[in-house]
Amino acid sequence: MPIEGNGPGDGAVGSGDLLRHVFDAAPSAMLLVDRGGSIRLANRHCLDLFGYLHEQLVGEPVEVLVPERFRERHPERRDGYFGMPAVRAMGAGRDLYGRRRDGSEVPIEIGLNPLHATGELFVVASIIDITQRKIGEDRLRASLAEKETLLREIHHRVKNNMQVVSSMLNLQTNTIDEPRYRAMFEECQARVHAMAMIHEKLYASDNLAALDGGDYVADLARMLVRSYARRASQVDLQVDAEALGLDIQTAIPIGLILNEFVTNALKHAFPAGRGMIRVGLHDVGDDRAALEVRDDGAGIGDAIDYEQSRGLGLRLVRGLVRQLDGTLHRLPGPGTGFRVEFVRRFRGELVGAAPDAGQGDRNEDDHKEVR
Ligand SMILES: Nc1ncnc2c1ncn2[C@@H]1O[C@H](COP(=O)(O)OP(=O)(O)OP(=O)(O)O)[C@@H](O)[C@H]1O
Ligand SMILES: [Mg+2]
Repeated sequence: MPIEGNGPGDGAVGSGDLLRHVFDAAPSAMLLVDRGGSIRLANRHCLDLFGYLHEQLVGEPVEVLVPERFRERHPERRDGYFGMPAVRAMGAGRDLYGRRRDGSEVPIEIGLNPLHATGELFVVASIIDITQRKIGEDRLRASLAEKETLLREIHHRVKNNMQVVSSMLNLQTNTIDEPRYRAMFEECQARVHAMAMIHEKLYASDNLAALDGGDYVADLARMLVRSYARRASQVDLQVDAEALGLDIQTAIPIGLILNEFVTNALKHAFPAGRGMIRVGLHDVGDDRAALEVRDDGAGIGDAIDYEQSRGLGLRLVRGLVRQLDGTLHRLPGPGTGFRVEFVRRFRGELVGAAPDAGQGDRNEDDHKEVR
């Protein structure tokens, strides 16, 4: 089978022409290249794509179609292919470009097929212009980036709004003289802050849908203990929290539950003002995680049935555990301990905090201003 085409439109229907016709009828740009790297045939789509006439391309090294910056290494790759010819896609995962006659570049995808004919080895390259696909991808990427920015902005604003609520509660608290009512307002403020912190963390994270539960639990517990420490108590905190991805619907109840447990320990466990609180967050398998809070204080006492307790705190905890579809257990003493097991709905990978996000306004000290 002779391979050379006779140039377009020269009439004679030989097998060379047949090959040309088959080539021209192919839906994508096709090139036939010989072992030496010379172009032996190029179909009409290929000529259109690269802006050549057939006679300008045939006999030329295939490197004329390769942008200058890739040209030098191309013959070596070509030799490599001829040494181990197989049907394969070229440049999978890499951006490939072709060079047009006018020097402009076109993004392409190439499939390579070895062809044995007339005792020679050729390679048939089929080339697809992916300009439109790239434009589509770029648009999609831009639109995704825009949505991410918006979502980040929303987390930021929600956090700011919650801080405003917290500040208002603080102002209100300052007008109250009775310690009991003051404490109520302060606790409300802590609950709002526990939620605000989630939005603050989501805003600063790469993954806008999930935060690092371990980091959140540790920060929240520390913040609570610190704000109590100002009332001159000597409470140590130990946190042992794994980095677990939590989505916002899980993180909010978990934060509020932790808030109640830690606040209870600070309020009720240590009449002498000294003690230790331990907080743990662990993956317990089966897509479940456990939050544990224990103290070495006075103990909750048998008089209080935590399942019936009428205090707002433990009632809130029971409601939130139900919302999580989780379970609530007392841990054996001494002191008071609770364990909440819940389903982790977020199973993706956590990624690190965005380096540029949330600088200047994301520290916990925000809380101090409004306390
Ligand atoms: N860690 C603890 N150590 C000792 N006693 C506790 C502890 N946690 C809870 N209690 C007891 O259980 C009661 C019920 O707790 P709960 O959180 O429901 O209500 P509260 O803390 O009194 O009020 P609120 O949480 O609404 O501010 C508390 O009043 C307290 O007597
Ligand atoms: Mg309480």
